Amino acid sequence: MTLQTTSTLPTRDLTERIATEVHADKAALLSGDHAGAIRELLERRGVLVFPQIGFTDAEQIAFTETLGTLAPERDGEAVYDVTLDTNVNKQADYLKGSFYWHLDGTMNQVPILASLLSSRVLPADGGGDTEFCNTYAAYDDLSEDDKDQIASLRAMHSAWNSLLYYDPEPDFATLRQMMAIGERELPVVWTHRSGRKSLILGCTASNIVGMDYAQSTKTLVRLRDWATQPQFVYRHRWSVGDLVMWDNTGTMHRALPYDPNSGRMLRRTKLAGEEPFA
Ligand code: SIN
Repeated sequence: MTLQTTSTLPTRDLTERIATEVHADKAALLSGDHAGAIRELLERRGVLVFPQIGFTDAEQIAFTETLGTLAPERDGEAVYDVTLDTNVNKQADYLKGSFYWHLDGTMNQVPILASLLSSRVLPADGGGDTEFCNTYAAYDDLSEDDKDQIASLRAMHSAWNSLLYYDPEPDFATLRQMMAIGERELPVVWTHRSGRKSLILGCTASNIVGMDYAQSTKTLVRLRDWATQPQFVYRHRWSVGDLVMWDNTGTMHRALPYDPNSGRMLRRTKLAGEEPFA
């Protein structure tokens, strides 16, 4: 294995266009000495993997705080249980949307900067990998014609649209509850302060504003299909103790299917957003 060195940390790119493995021990990560290099690498590579680092909750929180401002969950907790077990996570139903490509925070003007996910329990029978795609790279590789065509497009995003992916015939009460969360109009192309551009797509996108429904669906599906081609995708096969973090502003992600009764448990912390959609 050939390792490169970023700052003082040895790293290895996992694919050409997305994801880098970082080799460091807990003390080095928790010291904060490498925070700048990690942030720079995250923006450049989209996904960082810290294999079997084995953080406790307190260590994961401390590491997150070396990188920026920790964003608490809705109930104020610092750490969120990513599990389909409703005995552990009362809002586990919302996680059903995580099986479809998405980015987090499309209901907010400033979406979270990054998520950090660590694995605690994995399905004994396999499944439950997590996939990521690099939406900066996907934008960059579009033809100039495509870039021109989508430059000024805007799409409506909502939680109720992702509901329809996993529950295509919801009862009316459930639909109304999801609709109460609201919806938001966002650009299809996000022009970042850095000047780089990424795509805002995924299962929260219902339609392109002002476009005929069939044409709008074709456009959204074609772009999602483009952005999730193998050259833009990294698939993480979890080992217990891995920590994976991703730049939520330049990637989409999804969980691959697993047995809901498998006990799969990942723990998530989030970094507060620093840049509004634009
Ligand atoms: C998520 O969408 O944040 C969860 C991903 C996973 O469960 O693998």
